Amino acid sequence: MGPLDTFSRPLRDLRVSVTDRCNFRCTYCMPREVFGRGYEFLRRDQLLSFEEIVRLARLFASLGVEKIRLTGGEPLLRRDVETLVAMLAAIPGVELTMTTNGSLLPRRAPALASAGLARVTVSLDSLDDATFRAMNDVDFPVGRVLEGIEAAAATGLAPVKVNMVVKRGVNEDSILPMARHFHGTGHILRFIEFMDVGTTNGWRLDDVVPAAEILAAVEAELPLDPVVPNYPGEVARRWRYRDGGGEIGVIASVTRPFCGDCTRARLSAEGRLYTCLFAARGHDLRALLRGGATDRELTDAVTAIWGRRDDRYSEVRSSHTVPLAKVEMSRIGG
Ligand code: GTP
Ligand code: 5AD
Ligand code: SF4
Ligand code: SF4
Repeated sequence: MGPLDTFSRPLRDLRVSVTDRCNFRCTYCMPREVFGRGYEFLRRDQLLSFEEIVRLARLFASLGVEKIRLTGGEPLLRRDVETLVAMLAAIPGVELTMTTNGSLLPRRAPALASAGLARVTVSLDSLDDATFRAMNDVDFPVGRVLEGIEAAAATGLAPVKVNMVVKRGVNEDSILPMARHFHGTGHILRFIEFMDVGTTNGWRLDDVVPAAEILAAVEAELPLDPVVPNYPGEVARRWRYRDGGGEIGVIASVTRPFCGDCTRARLSAEGRLYTCLFAARGHDLRALLRGGATDRELTDAVTAIWGRRDDRYSEVRSSHTVPLAKVEMSRIGG
């Protein structure tokens, strides 16, 4: 039996960042003002090695982790990440997926699939090149990301999930075109409420398009029915097109936070364990690994960290913006 945190939440999912680098500069994630020329990324010796990642992954699996998601930065920028995929895919009882910006997928999808990756999630915020650029601050053709999505699906990394962060006044016009484009393709489009990861008290709601509004926009043209969750604590709330055109999801971290059954931990590229997406402080597992800790000492350390966990950042933040949260929760239902 794995550890439970202070709210009795088990540890089930591990997001593993394999690099802090990215070839995009999404304004909501790696803004150029911060991640510009002068920014010092991690050196190679600061990154966990593949062997270190796999050792930790096995220990996390023994503590109850069932799902490992490789992330970044952009995970495909980590040299030879396919080798890591093959090593992790050998761990029994764990589903291995990757969240990527898709830019390198057209070339890499076949090798990832044969290394044993189960699925990919691709971030794509618009079908329009100018709007895409306004979100990611680089010149990269949308068409190439779409090729990546098709390449992934063709090699069996399916169903492909497509994550669209919706930001008020920037890409809300892309909601319907994205829904139309992916309708009937078998790919699952997920709309994500923009999360202000800054330090203000409460969300900057000006930038957020609430999930209920996103759904209403889609539903006006393509009617939807709710679908029951795949598992308790699923991040995305699922909807199915009434005409049989497949499924979409909405991730309403702001208007409907889901901390209550959050089972996720995050391991940073330099080996720090974070018990919340927004936790300011991580626990240095690399120091333990490189200091010669035994497997038992490592699992005891993780068990103790998880046992003290009391994070519920999104819920606390949203409680500062109750009026909106109440309205939206009643409109989304469930
Ligand atoms: P699937 O099991 O593939 O559906 O995974 P997922 O939805 O957990 O994965 P993904 O990495 O694609 O996450 C989707 C989005 O949900 C992310 O882009 C985040 O914006 C948001 N998200 C994921 N996990 C958390 C979390 O623990 N807390 C919050 N607040 N948001 C999260
Ligand atoms: N708000 C919402 N989603 C975000 N992502 C990154 N930063 C934010 C944010 N501030 C999404 C990316 C990617 C996923 C891993 O997280 O679009 O799909
Ligand atoms: Fe962040 Fe992903 Fe955008 Fe890169 S592509 S800047 S990792 S959201
Ligand atoms: Fe989990 Fe933290 Fe996200 Fe809440 S804010 S769902 S506790 S990762």
